[in-house]
Amino acid sequence: MAKRVVLAYSGGLDTSVAVRWMIENLGVEVVCLSADVGQEGTLEGNREKALGAGAIAYEELDLRQEFADDFLAPLIKANALYEDQYPLVSALSRPLIAKKQVEIARKYGADGVAHGCTGKGNDQVRFEVSYMALAPDLEQLAPVRNWGFTREDSIEYAATHGIPVGATKEKLYSIDDNLFGRAIECGEMEDPWAEPPAGVWKMTERTATEPAEFTVSFERGVPVALDGEVRPLFEIVIALNHLVGSYGWGRLDMVENRRVGIKSRETYEAPGALAIMLAHRDLESLTVERDLGRQKIALQHRYAELVYDGLWYSPLRDALDAFVDVSQRHVTGDVRLRLEPNRCWVVGRRAPKSLYDYGLATYDAADRFRHADSEGFVRIWGLGVQTWSDVQGPGSQR
Ligand code: ARG
Repeated sequence: MAKRVVLAYSGGLDTSVAVRWMIENLGVEVVCLSADVGQEGTLEGNREKALGAGAIAYEELDLRQEFADDFLAPLIKANALYEDQYPLVSALSRPLIAKKQVEIARKYGADGVAHGCTGKGNDQVRFEVSYMALAPDLEQLAPVRNWGFTREDSIEYAATHGIPVGATKEKLYSIDDNLFGRAIECGEMEDPWAEPPAGVWKMTERTATEPAEFTVSFERGVPVALDGEVRPLFEIVIALNHLVGSYGWGRLDMVENRRVGIKSRETYEAPGALAIMLAHRDLESLTVERDLGRQKIALQHRYAELVYDGLWYSPLRDALDAFVDVSQRHVTGDVRLRLEPNRCWVVGRRAPKSLYDYGLATYDAADRFRHADSEGFVRIWGLGVQTWSDVQGPGSQR
């Protein structure tokens, strides 16, 4: 049995109760780690809450830059959207937090790591598979999955044990957010037919009314500047969350297949992520050769699934990243997007290594395309279908 564990500590009711519960029931010492991955709520007060619940130490890390550079950038380059829609918001933060837990565990000589996820979700999978990849020697603890408390039980446990938990008013939704977006589950939305109530949206509350334009510049597939100003990726994402979100764009409403076999109704808002990915795909259309682009599209689904399923640290992702990086060699350039209330779309793109050839594409006098060559090309291209038609197909009925 572990003697000292590092808990991924959000500061919420469950993880606060988990601190004391693990001390009392498992006889361990607890070190709490709170990570800033760009979520809306601050970590203020977490130190007091963690120590108040009985933790022997509290660590806090600002991971926004590392999160953007090491997790969001590969995802953007890969255009990875789970089930064609979801930009993997929560699936991206877990492997980073797990990695930091392992580092803190080494620092404190801990022999275990713990998370506050329930047994029905994907996040437990992501934490634990990451621990398994990074530190198979550490024991894994999942108190919230095992204690069998209802929410009322947890509130009562906190009260009788004097654990400071802050406001514990009825929690309507299960929310997880970071730089890349926000997931909202439960409440009325457990009925897939019911429209999400207006009150669930935070990042995409529409306030802007006048049309606007912005330009994202990419280098090898990664955003490096906004409107010509070079900025770190995490700042670009934050700026676009505000700008694009203020137009009410960037919402998703989907029924999703969880790794644990449950179909679940999920709503998301990810204005910055979705605008960046829209722009990135567009720039690829200009700079990536056809066959390479086709193959990349075929691999994107696999990439997204892998990340969703908690296999961030895996040999297949390493190999896919190598492929993606090669595909991004010339994905450098600018994409211009326009915003109107509830709309965001690309209006222009340019790249130093653009494969768009005006002389080949134009219909005016500058046309360099050899029209006559098409005659023989099409005759041979259609030869198989022509033979089929004559012998077996529509033509054979004549
Ligand atoms: N369904 C999403 C995913 O699996 C979001 C999970 C959000 N987590 C949460 N605890 N509310 O990535």
